[in-house]
Amino acid sequence: MLAELEQYVLRRKKEINAVILAHFYQLPEIQDIADFVGDSLQLAIQAASTQAQVIVFCGVNFMAESAKILNPDKTVLLPDIRAGCPMADMVGAEALRKKKAEYPGAVVVCYVNSSAEVKAESDICCTSSNALNVVRSIPEDRTVIFVPDKNLGAYIQSQTGREMMLWEGYCPIHHALSWAEVEKQKELHPQAQVVVHPECPPEVTRRADAVRSTAGILEYLRSSNGAEFIIGTEEGFLYTLQKNCPGKKLYLARESFHCPDMKYITLEKLAGSLEKMEQQVEVPPEISRRARRSLERMIEIKG
Ligand code: 13P
Ligand code: SF4
Repeated sequence: MLAELEQYVLRRKKEINAVILAHFYQLPEIQDIADFVGDSLQLAIQAASTQAQVIVFCGVNFMAESAKILNPDKTVLLPDIRAGCPMADMVGAEALRKKKAEYPGAVVVCYVNSSAEVKAESDICCTSSNALNVVRSIPEDRTVIFVPDKNLGAYIQSQTGREMMLWEGYCPIHHALSWAEVEKQKELHPQAQVVVHPECPPEVTRRADAVRSTAGILEYLRSSNGAEFIIGTEEGFLYTLQKNCPGKKLYLARESFHCPDMKYITLEKLAGSLEKMEQQVEVPPEISRRARRSLERMIEIKG
């Protein structure tokens, strides 16, 4: 049954000239069938440069929306429309407009985990892999409003020494990780290095051996001589890490590190989406035009 579905997806994708992009947190069968698997920045770059007419995005809504903004004339499909990001919902365009009015002249840096409307209100987007360079690209004398992830914002502040206005947003999955939980893992695996995502709270990022985006974590493990690692990010990523680093021992920082939104997309949903060309992601043209500027500036800045 699984093999039949896979065959169907591969056949149908050719028929409609589609490319399948998947985030590292997706289910293993989705990562295996995708044309490209990556972090948010890599996926946005792929979306911006693809020759395919249809982009099927296996990830969450803000990622598919970004693909549509970068390709207004292409069809972008999100196989399950329920796949959202609770952190992206923590900042709205109206609230951001109010904040901008309080700080005229401020530069708004917006984490890509945000809605199209919020991107349209921002000056530049960033992902966790290029956030430090994005903030460093802003002249020192400008006030920076950073939305919505206060943990990523605090990490940037700690690395750049740059004070920013931080929004009260966070990823509920990463924010829930405490250093006490990491210590339990360290007691079990005293030789292991701790590598975490910058969406984790400061009490964790301050003490970790390395803080990286998902692609950065993969790179860190590949180039490290270490044999054991405690990983502080979503559990789906362990599949890619283990596949790429077969000799290394990997432990999740917490027993369950699960983003339910990243698991809505199954092989059945992907096949159905390709068959019926659903769910098509749309962004109103005026919002799309303004959001696109912020995304294109983001893509120009390397991680
Ligand atoms: P990355 O850009 O590091 O893949 O992170 C995306 C995300 O949603 C993390 O929770
Ligand atoms: Fe959003 Fe967190 Fe899930 Fe990433 S892990 S998609 S930030 S809720």
